[in-house]
Amino acid sequence: MDMSRSKRKIDHIRHALGHEREIHNHFDDVEIVHQSLARLDFNQISRTTNAGELNLSSPLFVNAMTGGGGEETKAINRDLAIAAHETGIAMAVGSQMSAIKRPEERSTYEVVREMNPDGKVFANVGSEASLLQAKEAIAMLKADALQIHINTLQELIMPEGDRDFTQRMHHIQQIIDGVEIPIIIKEVGYGISKETVRILYDMGIRYVDVGGRGGTNFSKVENMRRERPFSSFNNWGISTPSSILEAVSEYEDLHVFASGGIRSGLDGAKAMILGAQGFGMAGGLLKVLVNEGKDALVEEIDHIHKEFKMTMMLLNASTPSDLQKKPYVLTGATKEWYDQRIRVNL
Ligand SMILES: Cc1cc2nc3c(=O)[nH]c(=O)nc-3n(C[C@H](O)[C@H](O)[C@H](O)COP(=O)(O)O)c2cc1C
Repeated sequence: MDMSRSKRKIDHIRHALGHEREIHNHFDDVEIVHQSLARLDFNQISRTTNAGELNLSSPLFVNAMTGGGGEETKAINRDLAIAAHETGIAMAVGSQMSAIKRPEERSTYEVVREMNPDGKVFANVGSEASLLQAKEAIAMLKADALQIHINTLQELIMPEGDRDFTQRMHHIQQIIDGVEIPIIIKEVGYGISKETVRILYDMGIRYVDVGGRGGTNFSKVENMRRERPFSSFNNWGISTPSSILEAVSEYEDLHVFASGGIRSGLDGAKAMILGAQGFGMAGGLLKVLVNEGKDALVEEIDHIHKEFKMTMMLLNASTPSDLQKKPYVLTGATKEWYDQRIRVNL
């Protein structure tokens, strides 16, 4: 096995769980307007949600994290997949490039489909992947959707990271043209702007995961692995609520998933109110799994589901998509962002 890549996977998990979170989470800038007259039966509220061609039994999904780091990452993926199966949520795997380059790592990803034969599973590759590699990643999991992650700043801070992105657009276009299942372009914690959304939409993309700033911070993760860190970039990126507002402001038929710093079912509901059609959680769920085990993770997901449904109940939203029209107030930095970037164009 390629020890340096495998060690990097484990380092990532350790640093992703260990680094300090931002003091301010921008979901706290989003205040939902309370409505007193609830009129639904809690037990009748449905979590089922549609995002384009993806029918999900919950808007919550486990976002891309791991695989390709030997037995340790296989065990994590196995437990994440069992928890996803037991709670009926979708799950993305971490970048499959390592298994494409080293077939002996395939089982660290395949375990996800084995543990969850009928669930929704998202494949994941980087934007350097060719069409053939993307197809291999999909086949490895019989995937329901493909995430292509975009992580330029992470690569630049990573000493061994990519420096040449001249083939990126060409590769993404080939995958769009050659793959049948939904393709989700995702960031990894820096957010997606409306300018980026326009380019992606013109290429044919109809799904994005904004992967905004506020949670797992890959500048900090990679800086922890550097002798001389690029700390100036620790706060680079668009916060998740601002990035949702950017992404949904452009096209009716662009399906937006939210991730990055979602701490609870209430944050997830806020993401949906801002216009997202689903929300992913990565670092927070991994922390529960690693520190407390699989049963605790199942309990955590159940708790997040309850918080989400409580918010729906309070707002008389009988389906997750009903949340999208509910009133909210923006404060602080997110209001400033909205005023200068979104409202000016309305
Ligand atoms: C340990 C770890 C590994 C990750 N690896 C990947 C990856 O391989 N591909 C990817 O698209 N995103 C990866 N991510 C990013 C997450 O999918 C997500 O976009 C990001 O962590 C923000 O969500 P969070 O704040 O809930 O953690 C990783 C996250 C963590 C915590």
